Amino acid sequence: MQRVENEIARLIKEIDYDEVTRLFESLSGGKRLRAKLILKIASEHDEAPLLAAIIELIHAASLLHDDVIDDALTRRGIASVNATDGSKTAVMLGDILYSKAFTELVSFDPKIAKVVASSVTALSKGEMMDVKMADAFNFDESKYLDMLYLKTATLIESAAIASALLIGKDSQKYGVYGKNLGLSFQIIDDILDITSDSATLGKPAMNDFVEGKCTLPYIHLYEALSEEDKKRLSGSHAKKIDLSEEIWIKDMMNEHKCIEKSFLLAQKLSNEAMQAVKDDQALVSILETMIKRSY
Ligand code: IPE
Ligand code: IPE
Ligand code: MG
Ligand code: MG
Ligand code: MG
Repeated sequence: MQRVENEIARLIKEIDYDEVTRLFESLSGGKRLRAKLILKIASEHDEAPLLAAIIELIHAASLLHDDVIDDALTRRGIASVNATDGSKTAVMLGDILYSKAFTELVSFDPKIAKVVASSVTALSKGEMMDVKMADAFNFDESKYLDMLYLKTATLIESAAIASALLIGKDSQKYGVYGKNLGLSFQIIDDILDITSDSATLGKPAMNDFVEGKCTLPYIHLYEALSEEDKKRLSGSHAKKIDLSEEIWIKDMMNEHKCIEKSFLLAQKLSNEAMQAVKDDQALVSILETMIKRSY
């Protein structure tokens, strides 16, 4: 991982603008899940740290834009860039990181460059869908899962495919792993938004529903509620809610086992990921850490 950090620092330095270096250094690194995945798949390849650095720049850019989109004022335990330097700066820094990542990507085999670059289109489409779907209460689980695949799983899937291609492993198999890992990862993220707190997450908790995002636990809750309670829940959609409403939502989720049901799907997808790479123990441990994570 030190080689990945060195590559990231080198790429940022190459951008050659103090303001970018300052802002980038203010972002802590995060869990580096995507980089770790690439190193586990293609550890013996010399270019793996660079590929991992590129994917982490793309991921960081997506978070800069995501915090603007979600009006989120904290990220990775500190104030987000949109909070400290404004949304314009966050958008511009995101653009710089995306384009620097693409510039580096062109030195790879076109198949690798294409799978990664097209996953950024998918991610951006997913973010747009997430926002569009927040206009009204969404209780369609398959629509939610399709959006989630685009906004989160495609980048992880492309990281797995690209690193498999790099080292000459079966990219289809690793793609199945990455896709299911990514889906499971976002479902856990959506659960943690409800079950955890801002200090542990390092980003706002109980923010999804306020932003209009009806994640899986909310979809399950809506299905389970009486007509009257359905009205109450949809009445709170996309609004700042008070503590008593938050407690009611959590109590109802408890009563109807909405978190457990969502967690079961995350586990099922994680098992599917595991099945795809049964013989690769290193990848199983990534899944275990991912599913048990607290932030
Ligand atoms: C956050 O990703 C965005 C999602 C796709 C849920 P991570 O949880 O991997 O963020 P960092 O990089 O560890 O901060
Ligand atoms: C994932 O969704 C964001 C991206 C794919 C960039 P979220 O909006 O849930 O991510 P967090 O919770 O802010 O990290
Ligand atoms: Mg967000
Ligand atoms: Mg978001
Ligand atoms: Mg989230």
